[in-house]
Amino acid sequence: MSPPVNLAPIFRLEGEVRVPGDKSISHRALILGALARGRTYLGGLAPGEDVAHTASCLEACGVFIRIHGDGRAMVEGNGPDHALSAPSDRLDCGNSGSTMRMLAGAIAGHPITACLQGDPSLMRRPMRRIAAPLQQMGAAVRLGPEGTAPMTIEGRRPLRAITFEPPVASAQVKTAVLLAGLFADGPTTVLEPAPTRDHTERLLALCGIEVVSGAGRVTVTPGALQPFGLRIPGDISSAAFFLCLAAAREGWRVRCPEVGLNPGRDGVIEVLRAMGASVDVQEREPAGGVEPVGDVEVLGGPLHGARIEGALVPRLIDELPVIAVLATQAVGVTEIRDAAELRAKESDRIARLAEGLRRMGAACETLRDGLVIEGPTRLVPAAVDAAGDHRLAMAFAVAGCLAAGPGLTHIAGAESVSISYPGFFEDLASISSA
Ligand code: S3P
Repeated sequence: MSPPVNLAPIFRLEGEVRVPGDKSISHRALILGALARGRTYLGGLAPGEDVAHTASCLEACGVFIRIHGDGRAMVEGNGPDHALSAPSDRLDCGNSGSTMRMLAGAIAGHPITACLQGDPSLMRRPMRRIAAPLQQMGAAVRLGPEGTAPMTIEGRRPLRAITFEPPVASAQVKTAVLLAGLFADGPTTVLEPAPTRDHTERLLALCGIEVVSGAGRVTVTPGALQPFGLRIPGDISSAAFFLCLAAAREGWRVRCPEVGLNPGRDGVIEVLRAMGASVDVQEREPAGGVEPVGDVEVLGGPLHGARIEGALVPRLIDELPVIAVLATQAVGVTEIRDAAELRAKESDRIARLAEGLRRMGAACETLRDGLVIEGPTRLVPAAVDAAGDHRLAMAFAVAGCLAAGPGLTHIAGAESVSISYPGFFEDLASISSA
């Protein structure tokens, strides 16, 4: 166990942070590059352990990948016929649900057998939502008795084309089915209970694949993928920690240039504005011509509580921990509903967030599907546990910066930031005065 990180309250936040490349897009770019035939060139690949696990799993399936330290990468795809070959060992997905779920879809369309496993957190996460559609398509998928990994997949080609309605709004499930659909005997359709991030659809189009979206459904037609070039924009989920921190105090200001603004990911901007923060977005040239990008600047001011529910939730699901922290500083009640999925993330984020925030003095009530937070409260430094969950570690760091009073905030499990944002604490220090 690494020692907890100790964080002092800050009294000023001002500056610019160029956050690392988008994790969601990075996973997909590596996988699609592997399924194409020829060389795909990427810039801005996300630096964390999650994306490194996707790369190493693909390498274990015979794909040649070269990753440079500066975010540039090259994938030499062997697709479409023999894109992935059978790995000699189990595939280790680490902490990464995206790696396990998306790769499952790609593997299902290959006549190979592979077994996917991960760390203790990932081995507890629900996988029936992935196994069920892939089985319907004709792949043999075996899970543990609790519907969790290890997940063994015997793929085949062609798969059966299906129309699938996932039980929860999940971009990972949608992606797995669309990737399997590339190897089906006809067009495959996913019906979405609520819109989710559509990076896969956009990147498939960049690869020359026919994808038709609209009215809650997306259909992919099988075809051969073209390799592509893509400069991956900054990750709005990483930027959110700084944007929310700046929003918390009058006069604090942060600018994050070249952040991805996919409409399935930009809910945090909507909520910051609804709470009363000033958010300026300067549009930039779309990445690869397909992914919206912009410079985002937040200026803090008086905040009030907000209601977050329904179709907004999938658009900010990963930002809810830091939004909950911000809610402790807003006047009035913030109610987060329809977010039961938070309990199935890297940790039970509803329970763990409430526990940590209460230790710091927040008024926070848990619901089956969300949280109710009443503000404003004066947070105090305390010992909190991020439970090895990277987004909780960064959200508690934001809370620690906002705390007032003697002592430091001790975050156990803070080393988990390396999963998505290895340089987080350095970047935080670069714009804050303690
Ligand atoms: C992701 C989708 C979301 C999100 C995860 C990344 C993606 O998960 O929480 O961090 O890249 O597709 P679900 O698909 O399980 O909602």
